[in-house]
Amino acid sequence: MEAVQTRYRTHTCGQIRESDVGKTVRLAGWVHNYRDHGKLVLIDLRDRDGLTQVVFDVDECGPAIHESARRLRSEWVVSLEGVVADRGVDEKGRSRENPKLATGKVEVRAKSLEILSESPTPPFTPSEHETVNEEKRLEYRYIDLRRQEMQETLRTRYRVTKMMRDYLGDLGFWEIETPFLTKSTPEGARDFLVPSRFVPGSFYALPQSPQLFKQLLMVAGCDKYMQIVRCFRDEDPRADRQAEFTQLDVEMAFIDRENIISIMEGLLGTIWKDVLKLEIPNPIPHIEYDDAIHKYGSDRPDLRFGMELFDITDLAHTTDFGVFKNAPMVKAIVVPGGGKLSRKETDALAEWSKGFGAKGLAVTKITPAGLDTGVAKFLAGIAPQLIERTGAKEGDLLAFAADRPKVVHKVLGELRLKMARDLKLTPSTEFAWVWVVNFPLFEYDEEEKRYVATHHPFTAPLDEDLAKLDSRDREVVESIKSKAYDIVVNGSEVGGGSIRIHRMDVQQKVFSLLGIDDTAQKAKFGFLLDALQYGAPPPGGIALGLDRLIMILRGITNIRDVIAFPKTQSGADVMSGAPSPVDEKQLREVNIRVAQPPAKAPEPDVHGTVHKHAGGAGKP
Ligand code: AMO
Ligand code: AMP
Repeated sequence: MEAVQTRYRTHTCGQIRESDVGKTVRLAGWVHNYRDHGKLVLIDLRDRDGLTQVVFDVDECGPAIHESARRLRSEWVVSLEGVVADRGVDEKGRSRENPKLATGKVEVRAKSLEILSESPTPPFTPSEHETVNEEKRLEYRYIDLRRQEMQETLRTRYRVTKMMRDYLGDLGFWEIETPFLTKSTPEGARDFLVPSRFVPGSFYALPQSPQLFKQLLMVAGCDKYMQIVRCFRDEDPRADRQAEFTQLDVEMAFIDRENIISIMEGLLGTIWKDVLKLEIPNPIPHIEYDDAIHKYGSDRPDLRFGMELFDITDLAHTTDFGVFKNAPMVKAIVVPGGGKLSRKETDALAEWSKGFGAKGLAVTKITPAGLDTGVAKFLAGIAPQLIERTGAKEGDLLAFAADRPKVVHKVLGELRLKMARDLKLTPSTEFAWVWVVNFPLFEYDEEEKRYVATHHPFTAPLDEDLAKLDSRDREVVESIKSKAYDIVVNGSEVGGGSIRIHRMDVQQKVFSLLGIDDTAQKAKFGFLLDALQYGAPPPGGIALGLDRLIMILRGITNIRDVIAFPKTQSGADVMSGAPSPVDEKQLREVNIRVAQPPAKAPEPDVHGTVHKHAGGAGKP
């Protein structure tokens, strides 16, 4: 980075090189660390661009400045002038160069020092972040963000969004802003609500995505739309999920699935090449949703590993093992080298699998003598077929789930990922990309006893399945496939989209299968149905999860580390103290009375800190 010339600096702390030796420069930044050797005071000065070593030698800067330099402490902010010098050699003739720093061959011999800000001992310094708990890092986020890795992440994030705008802009996409104060759009999550002052008892919803607006922009003739946009979903945060997150949202008119897929592949290829200097497969392979579930137990399969699921229901039904004999489905995975797991470890796996709805997890090992331990005794009759079908080898572990298909796939899908992690199986590739296509249009929600849209209610069914929308037979309805597609890399769903319904009659049929009757359709989606009457082109689009993409590009596993100001697990901003109670007057203005007053201010914790989010973070 070139510094903008100001009275505080002529160069950044990452900019100076050997070719600058002899030049007088001015630098500004934070004191990263300091060493006081008496006559010499050495500091590393830091800004977002890097570190430069600065030397205050009493013989060069004079006693007043030297004295001032001795007062410097971590994270003080200074501006100084000096002459760039070669680092030279120490008393033993060894080079003083620091090869780890871009500026490691040079130092600045200070001639002046201006202290711009002092700081008390900070709660932690950027180099100490690993020893500090995350809540503290989030509370003092402005210190945490000074870290080089964080700055690099923010820089990558900016570069990626710029590439998105440039790439799509060159193809004729317009960035169009859609409202944040909107009517609730069902994307399957809970809405964040904003009370209306003008209409007592009415609420806006913050958008879960701009889905309906982008479809309306297509009806409006905008043709190619994109937006880097914040979305809001009141769901429990997870390692890869925040309530407030960012999408690259895209929509186009007059297209098929392959058009949007090829544009996204071009964009992702550009990003990967720029940030990681890596090519992505061209084209990215496709997998049918049904195959993904059958082979990997997941609609976002991590294809860096094999460990496919094998259907052995037919074999299992011929045994006398009750668990297998009567189960609707039995599948197995081979854990390579899993034979070394102890009884205690495999018992722990069976317990763990219950968390995913399994009744147990049957296992056996492949030894020179054939199947051994675990449920081996029940499988004697089918051992050769089992080994042939699964390709299990000596030293491997076979793990079985017997249940309804949904449970079998969930348990073995999760087990596959856990085993790859626990046994540190070497991935076959750094990035495994796949498009998952032909999702079912509906899923049956057993709890609510109704169909829900697998993607969202505006996704078009495959043309050959259109007629099935008139059926009420569960098997027929569940067999309807949609024009939805997800892009998955290393088991993370980084984007999803679909070709949309552009015919009013088809949209109405989908709504009624979802249990939304005529009156509710008019109330909730009247504006969309109206628009579809007035000349709607066939549109399609996608949204990429920007935060997840940055996580993958930077090898980061916690979504909070790719967001400048994220929320904690309980949805709190521990720095500013949001959410927080508001005063009575504010509530009266929006006609709201709180049924449950906020909890009392919390007691100080063991460290004596009173957390600012009094009232209980994230609790209503
Ligand atoms: P979808 O709901 O699949 O589709 O979201 C698109 C992508 O956004 C990311 N994402 C999230 N990232 C972080 N935190 C979250 N809570 C979160 N939720 C989703 C994922 C996901 O793949 N309107 C449709 C898109 C379309 O049909 O064009 C939509 O929002 O990476
Ligand atoms: P049980 O007959 O319940 O003692 O179970 C015998 C073995 O089968 C144990 O290892 C269980 O963990 C396992 N098991 C029980 N139920 C299932 C199931 N539904 N699928 C796979 N394994 C199971």
